[in-house]
Amino acid sequence: MSLSLNLTDVSPLQFAVTPNPAPKSDTERAEILAAPGFGQFFTDHMVQIHWSERGGWHRAAVEPYGKISLDPAAAVLHYAQEIFEGLKAYRHADGSIWSFRPDQNALRFQRSARRLALPELPTQVFLDSLTKLVTQDAAWVHEGGETSLYLRPFMFASEAFLGVRAARKVYFFVIASPAGSYFKGGVQPVSIWLSTDYARAAHGGTGAAKTGGNYAASLLPQQEAYEHGCDQVLFLQDGQLEELGGMNLVLVTKDGTLVTPESDSILEGITRDSLMQLAADRGHAVERRAVSLAEWRDGAASGDIVEAFACGTAAVVNPIARFKSKDFTIELPEIPAEQSLAMSLRRELTDIQYGRAEDAHNWLYRVDGGAR
Ligand code: PLP
Ligand code: COI
Repeated sequence: MSLSLNLTDVSPLQFAVTPNPAPKSDTERAEILAAPGFGQFFTDHMVQIHWSERGGWHRAAVEPYGKISLDPAAAVLHYAQEIFEGLKAYRHADGSIWSFRPDQNALRFQRSARRLALPELPTQVFLDSLTKLVTQDAAWVHEGGETSLYLRPFMFASEAFLGVRAARKVYFFVIASPAGSYFKGGVQPVSIWLSTDYARAAHGGTGAAKTGGNYAASLLPQQEAYEHGCDQVLFLQDGQLEELGGMNLVLVTKDGTLVTPESDSILEGITRDSLMQLAADRGHAVERRAVSLAEWRDGAASGDIVEAFACGTAAVVNPIARFKSKDFTIELPEIPAEQSLAMSLRRELTDIQYGRAEDAHNWLYRVDGGAR
């Protein structure tokens, strides 16, 4: 998919920029960037844009990162009318900063908005908001290793009222957080808990939207996963595999076919789509289809399924070592990293993201205000 934009979608919004008068010192920032973890520290600025039924999108600003003041009756606090996105900015060896397929995040944000009865942010405003923030906070994007700047656009109902209807006032924000590895152990094979008591989403529900409620529903089963020594939870629906709490699932068969669950209640991951494309470019068969738990169990037992991995913006690609449930455990064969398809696709993807390999699909989009 290309970055070509519909010209009617181009926004005339001008961003007012107010630099933070008290940004973190170079020393404080360097300490944070040396071990950022995931989602624990935030940069000096944020983007804020307001929307109202009467005024449309207005008051676009880059301003000091800080607290939001909300009326206690703001609809989001009661009825969870909220959506978000997650993508990263990467610094290349020449100093330029790029994000990966942000047009796809912009389009998914619009799909999520439609499902949650929120206004659709024009694609160009979404992209501009990233560029404005990254330009302002460029010092927070480290070069080298696999650190990046995680960008979190989000939108919520700010109107104060208690009737249950779509809000007529909405806030859009983008915040940014330096990111290292999502899992504490780095890129190590992880254990996955199969949730049989709880569902994340339902047909006709909000599973395909990136909305806070889906994550709220995943927290209790995620706790259950931790209690069983697992890192993430895998959800099922009607006996079919769906996805993890915050990542998609891909299985690899012994003939090198990549199989990933397809359903109307899964978040369509951009990382997954990109990995499937890279695998197809190498000549692998890729299948997006319903995968039953029975197929998966039988395949793992017979040796037909040789690898499984989790993928998403935050996690990138993480091999899965085992699946546990109340009744059984499925162990996958231990594969040395240099023979793992998951690890080799991970390397190919990150090489493109960090500008170390050719961007044959034109996936990169410059976000530091420099010329493309
Ligand atoms: N599924 C869920 C529930 C997620 O939260 C994410 C992360 O964003 C993904 C899948 C992967 O999506 P992406 O690759 O676009 O980050
Ligand atoms: C992401 O990967 O961007 C997500 O939103 C998932 C979450 C687990 C951080």
